[in-house]
Amino acid sequence: MAYHWWQRGVIYQIYPRSFKDSNGDGIGDLEGIIQKLDYLNNGTHDSLGIEAIWISPFYPSPMADFGYDVANYVDIDPMFGDLADFDRLITEAHQRGIKVIIDYVPNHTSEEHPWFLESRSSRDNPRRDWYIWRDAKPDGSPPNNWGSWFGGPSWTWDEHTGQYYLHSFTKEQPDLNWANPAVYQAMMDVLRFWLDRGVDGFRMDVVFLIDKHPQLLDNPPNPNPAPDLSPNDLAGRQLNIHNREQPGLFKYLRDFRKLTDEYTDRVIIGEIWVELDAWVKYFGENGDALHLPFNFRLLQLPEWNAELVRQSVDELEQALPSFGWGNYVLGSHDIGRLATRIGQDQARIAAMLLLTLRGTPTLYNGDEIGMENGVIPPDKIRDPQGIILGAHRTRDVCRTPVQWDSSAYAGFSTVEPWLPVSEDYRSRNIQVQGLDPKSMLSLYRKLLWYRHGSAALYGGSYLPVDGPAGTYLYLREHDSERKLIALNFTNETKAVTLTDHGRIVLSTYLDREEAINGEFHLRANEGVIIEL
Ligand code: NOJ
Ligand code: CA
Repeated sequence: MAYHWWQRGVIYQIYPRSFKDSNGDGIGDLEGIIQKLDYLNNGTHDSLGIEAIWISPFYPSPMADFGYDVANYVDIDPMFGDLADFDRLITEAHQRGIKVIIDYVPNHTSEEHPWFLESRSSRDNPRRDWYIWRDAKPDGSPPNNWGSWFGGPSWTWDEHTGQYYLHSFTKEQPDLNWANPAVYQAMMDVLRFWLDRGVDGFRMDVVFLIDKHPQLLDNPPNPNPAPDLSPNDLAGRQLNIHNREQPGLFKYLRDFRKLTDEYTDRVIIGEIWVELDAWVKYFGENGDALHLPFNFRLLQLPEWNAELVRQSVDELEQALPSFGWGNYVLGSHDIGRLATRIGQDQARIAAMLLLTLRGTPTLYNGDEIGMENGVIPPDKIRDPQGIILGAHRTRDVCRTPVQWDSSAYAGFSTVEPWLPVSEDYRSRNIQVQGLDPKSMLSLYRKLLWYRHGSAALYGGSYLPVDGPAGTYLYLREHDSERKLIALNFTNETKAVTLTDHGRIVLSTYLDREEAINGEFHLRANEGVIIEL
């Protein structure tokens, strides 16, 4: 079977503000990404060896939600560069065999998007109905009880025209009205604009939200709200059933797919936070919707241990339709750093897991050197979620500048960056780890290139194998190629018995390659790949 690049390859997420600043304003930019493409893949094993990048938004934006508030879908914010830089980025990436996936933000625009400026200008403006406007209830309160995902009600009163508008996130991010055919058409045109420019795919932001209940019914209360909810977290106190995953959504997804299928080998990835039985539906009834609905289940485990990880993978494998393809996400710009969540020792196990499972891995920039959560003083919090819902919810911690070297500002910039550089940058950076044959970065490089050359890993079958408690073993197989992956999630040595002979070709400690026969030992927090 021939695999698509988005099945074989590894997707590397770039958060452009924090990746590399090329012009000394403290904010990353497109030219910075171009300068680091060789680091990502120059064809040699000294580079990371990823096959695709997904770049978070770089569109003109007032940055109320750091680019997820788009003021123009078909241009580049001057802070990041211009369209000529973008074209060069595509060309340079493609020359290195790197595909380029961009963020598409269909649910909402910025309040400064010309469409919204028109929409809010008067009740009879032709674009009024491009957004979701409703009268107040008789007592002046919002039209329904929906809560914003960032806290507070999802309605804001507009004094000038005397109605409320809907926003699923901040009030600076009004929701588009997809039920309006003109909106639908304009947003399809956006996809076409970038496809014609040569992008290889889209990551579709909260795409499960775009269709709303036609009557905007109240959501019922959540019988089991999380115990630590902020007082203004209305969304957390409801079952969000009428503001997401409405039946009309799937028609839109099929249309996105039809459009991208007019072009050669493009991919559409959806950001959706749903349970497994709902998740499988995003492939469409016959594989005619999303290629990859993001799978965040490993981020949502109540605890990181062998049993829960295996269960999560096994359930996904069993649920996958024949036309579906799995994927795994362990980090992003929205969640605390992997190495902070599970510790540096287990972060190595996570690296081996991510890059040896069946399904497309997504790797978040900085996780390859085990970057940890940044410490953000209260007066430096920039993320609206942290400002509205409280410091414990700020996503700034996973958005601190990528640590390139030991020089000032970690080689990210020549001036104080927009978020503080983490204290550990002198020892934890790409240059230092690149020279250390046992570093996290060396482990990622080894794993990435090994996966690249192994049909069993990028394409083969998956079979879990029982092992001692606290370990997770699985077999990956393609034709005569057989690999056993053995991961120790504990701090203790574990004896594993094999019926086959084999050879350890890679340990997460990067210190052994040896033949094994019968029993072998996994050291504390060790993972190995065994060729059988
Ligand atoms: C999901 C994005 O990943 C997140 O960063 C953003 O704040 C929301 N969608 C709203 O666009
Ligand atoms: Ca810059």
